[in-house]
Amino acid sequence: MRSPNLVKMVGVVLLAVEIIVLISGYRFGANGLSMNYYLSSCPLAEPIVTNTVIRALMADPTLAAALVRLHFHDCFVQGCDGSILIDSTKDNTAEKDSPANLSLRGYEVINAAKKQLEKQCPGVVSCSDILAMTARDAVYLAGGPLYSIQKGRKDGRRSKIEDTENLPSPTFNASQLIIKFRQHGFSAEELVALSGAHTLGVATCRSFKNRLSDEDPTLDEDFAQTLSETCSSGDDAELPFDATRNSFDSLYFNALQRKAGVLTSDQTLYADTRTRNIVNGFASNQPMFFRRFQLAMVKMGTLDVKQGSRGEVRKNCHKIN
Ligand code: HEM
Ligand SMILES: *[C@@H]1O[C@H](CO)[C@@H](O)[C@H](O)[C@H]1NC(C)=O
Ligand SMILES: *[C@@H]1O[C@H](CO)[C@@H](O)[C@H](O)[C@H]1NC(C)=O
Repeated sequence: MRSPNLVKMVGVVLLAVEIIVLISGYRFGANGLSMNYYLSSCPLAEPIVTNTVIRALMADPTLAAALVRLHFHDCFVQGCDGSILIDSTKDNTAEKDSPANLSLRGYEVINAAKKQLEKQCPGVVSCSDILAMTARDAVYLAGGPLYSIQKGRKDGRRSKIEDTENLPSPTFNASQLIIKFRQHGFSAEELVALSGAHTLGVATCRSFKNRLSDEDPTLDEDFAQTLSETCSSGDDAELPFDATRNSFDSLYFNALQRKAGVLTSDQTLYADTRTRNIVNGFASNQPMFFRRFQLAMVKMGTLDVKQGSRGEVRKNCHKIN
């Protein structure tokens, strides 16, 4: 995580960004989102969220990865509508109870932010916006790019286990990843940029044990040993995606160049000629990776956004109102 002094300045920096946005005027996009959506209804929404993330990451820096991943899993299934947060009920098995949920974490950070926001401005700030804001803050606090996002998402009323088939599988090859991301409107370059989120966090053996059995020319021999040693401790044993699991940097792409990508879906980005040059570009030019990543995250954050009667502002992020 960034140094404590720097971290303390973040709230100020983000506030300054908000003010610049404010001066530049209201700009509602066609999807109904805007940069200063909460300007009059909940002016402290941004700093409340940012402070919550700062406090959470100071206590546990591994939560940065968790928050970025939650936003991805929210947006790729039924759009960015907070559906990943919904708990199952006796009549409905929700997204979060699918096997693809593997080790999703960080719900307590969303709840902590929501609790404060409800005190400050009840019923105003959506859970899907909280997911988007916490992911953005986590990226910056872990050393990644600072960017501002539009707000005004409404929370959805549907969360079904079967919808999670919209998520890519870690055993996908580049062709399958390209198709899956194209279905959501992303190019191959955006696929590689977004995969760069794996500069944060870990995978469990469960997600890469498919690579242990077959001979794989795209997998470094020593690294194959590391994978299998990890798995000797069981399905839940964790391995970081790169050497710096809590730092947002371009080392993930260097790992791919060394054939030391953790998941099949990571290494295939270097193995396939359609994406290899993009990986090489990001590996050698971190500012370019940061720029492409933030653009792709802003785009991901507007996937199938719910408006008007299609959504609501949930009072409790775990339950439909
Ligand atoms: C390209 C397709 C992708 C696949 C197949 C994939 C799959 C996975 C898998 C299997 C894990 C490990 C789960 C476990 O074993 O516990 C993981 C972790 C993670 N994923 Fe992805 N992912 C993809 C794209 C993304 C994107 C686009 C983002 C965010 C923008 C993202 C963010 C993360 C993060 C931050 C972690 C680490 C979580 C932690 O340490 O708690 N992933 N991903
Ligand atoms: C993930 O899904 C499993 C069932 O596949 C469930 O037992 C577990 O509680 C879920 N994890 C989370 C964090 O919701
Ligand atoms: C990718 O996987 C699909 C499905 O298993 C397979 O049909 C295809 O041939 C694979 N493509 C490449 C380039 O390996």
